[in-house]
This record gives sequence, C-alpha cells and structure tokens, in this order.
Amino acid sequence: MTQSTKKIDLRSDTVTQPTADMRHFMAEAKVGDDMYQEDPTVNALQEEVADLLGKEKALYVPTGSMANQIAIKLLTQPGDGMIVGNHAHNWMFESGAAGFISSIQLTPLTGDGRFTAQDVKAAYKPNQAPYHFAPTRLVSIENTHNVGGGLVWNQGEIAQVLATADELKIAKHLDGARLWNAAIYYGTELHTLTQGFDTVSVCLSKGLGAPVGSLLAGNSELIEKAYRYRRIMGGAMRQAGIIAAGGLYAVHHHRERLSEDHTNAQFLAKSLNEIKGLKVNIDSTHTNIVMADLTDKRLNAQVLEQKAKDQGILFLCVSDQRIRLVTHLDITQQDCEKAVETIQSLIKKSFLTVGC
Ligand SMILES: Cc1ncc(COP(=O)(O)O)c(C=O)c1O
Repeated sequence: MTQSTKKIDLRSDTVTQPTADMRHFMAEAKVGDDMYQEDPTVNALQEEVADLLGKEKALYVPTGSMANQIAIKLLTQPGDGMIVGNHAHNWMFESGAAGFISSIQLTPLTGDGRFTAQDVKAAYKPNQAPYHFAPTRLVSIENTHNVGGGLVWNQGEIAQVLATADELKIAKHLDGARLWNAAIYYGTELHTLTQGFDTVSVCLSKGLGAPVGSLLAGNSELIEKAYRYRRIMGGAMRQAGIIAAGGLYAVHHHRERLSEDHTNAQFLAKSLNEIKGLKVNIDSTHTNIVMADLTDKRLNAQVLEQKAKDQGILFLCVSDQRIRLVTHLDITQQDCEKAVETIQSLIKKSFLTVGC
C-alpha cells in the first residue's frame, strides 16, 4: 500500500502489526512443549513479567479476557459477588464470562470507571443471615480504564480501596491490560502499581504491539491453581514460545515508546477539541485513548465513522454522539494530523445528519 492510500487505523491499539524485528525474533525463538512447562521462551516471558509486576509468578495465556476470568475463578466461589467499576471490561465485554464460568454476581458501580473506598463500602454485602445478598468476595480495578478513555487511577485512591478491601476481607484483582501505559503516565515502575493486589492481568497485544498474549500474575499458590483453570478454559498451548517471543520482544523494546502514543493522543485531543461540533475532555486524556463527543445534534457518530472510513481513517463510534480514537505503534504524528484534517473537513460538510 502506498503512503497516500495507507489506512490510518485508530480503532484500537489491538490492531498493530508485528514489526520486522519482532517477526525475526519470533522466528528465531527457542520453543518446547509448554504443557510440560518446557518452553524456554514462555518460561522467560513469565519470569520476566512476574518480576516486573513484583509478583511471585506469572502465567502466559492467549487473551486478556482469559487472564481476567481465571483470576475471577481463582478468587471467588459460585454465588459470590464481585464489585467492578462502571463499564469494566471483565463485566461488560467478556461475553458474560464471570456469570458463565464462575457463577458469580457482579455489582457494577457508577461513574467514569474509577471508584472510591467509600463506594466499595456502600456496595459491599456481608455473608450473613437472612442471606438476601450474594456475599462480596472480590473487587476489581481496571487501570488504565478503557471505556473511561484510558483513564489512570489516582494511586492514593487505589491504596484506600485496597485498605478497605482488606478490612472487609475481600480479594483484589487488577485488570492491567494497559498497565504499561499507566506506568509511563506516572513515570513509575510497574510493581509500584500492583502492590496489594492478589492478581494482576496484563496484555502484550495492546499498546506493546505483540500479536498475541496476556499474563496473569500472583503468588505461587494462586498461579499453580491458575494452570488448571487455563487448561479447563482451553488456553494451555504447546510450542507457544513462537508467540510468546513477540511478547518478550515487546516488553524489551516497546514499553518506553508508549510515551509517543500519549503525545499523539494529546495532539489528537487538543486538535479535535478545536473543531466546531466536537468536544474532548483534554484533562481526562491521560494515555493513548481519546474520546470525542459530537456536540451538535445534527452530527451522528456512526455516519462520521463511515464517511471517515471511506477516506481511509478508521476510528470507533461508541455511541451516537461519541467516537473513540486510540494511538499505537503503527500511528505517527503525521497520521494524527491527517485524521484531524479528514474529520474536520467531514464535519464542515453538511451531510452528516442522522439517516444520510
Ligand atoms: C481493559 C481491558 N481488559 C481486558 C481486555 C481483554 O483483552 P483480550 O481482547 O485480549 O481478551 C481488554 C481488551 O481490549 C481491555 O481493554
């Protein structure tokens, strides 16, 4: 594809292509049968990520959804309750897996996806007579928060939520699919963001740009049990080092560059906010996700999405009045400029009313 016809795909950071160097590293990877825990590349990835996250062990799994669902299975019993933030991925976007696999009930909180210790106290249900409620056993935090627009949590707030969970004797899971981005935002080491959590999931196939894979980290006992749940869910693989190598390469080479994605997201947020008919909360654009609201009722996000797609600019319509753009490894500053130009010219034209 020539530069002039190159598609600019801002739908998600999951769309990245493995780089030539990553593919080379993958092709050269030493592999073994991971069911026997004999794949040296998987073992190296697991050890390295466990270390980065400050946890005893980590387990390589095919997807972030599987990592989250294994965690929920580990930390709950059927009939238990779990508190989650608004629009949490493990509540809304994993096809009802927590109910299907772990037979638990979810209590989603309101707000932008983040919540307070007070919210947890208010939502908490004890395990006591007359047993009207599903007893709360688990609270799950998503950092950064996807639907919240890549929002990072205040670290003090997290500490308070964790302290409250300890008082209430409930377990704590961190969905850190994009924790790499949060670490860059805070300018801190990953392990400082995982302290106090029983389990942490991280994805390699989002901002880091690996083609496949996530990890679930926790103490040795939990991760030993996680091996069985991974097997039950069909996620135990064989010569998985081929794909794990992409993850290992990404951990070594693509973490620091996430700051470029954040800079590009800031550029998009500021530029889109200047377009009449669009509003972006720049202060809430923390990492690589930009949410832009269509403020003029004559504009429709679905129509805008389609018209932009016709011109090679891809983003997601998340509601009639909201679009989402995500920066990543395959997006340059020039791509962002082109996306802004296209969106601006489409909005200027008057064909964007509902039903066109
Ligand atoms: C916050 C969050 N958690 C978990 C996942 C699940 O990852 P996967 O698509 O690998 O199942 C996603 C995917 O976008 C996500 O955004």
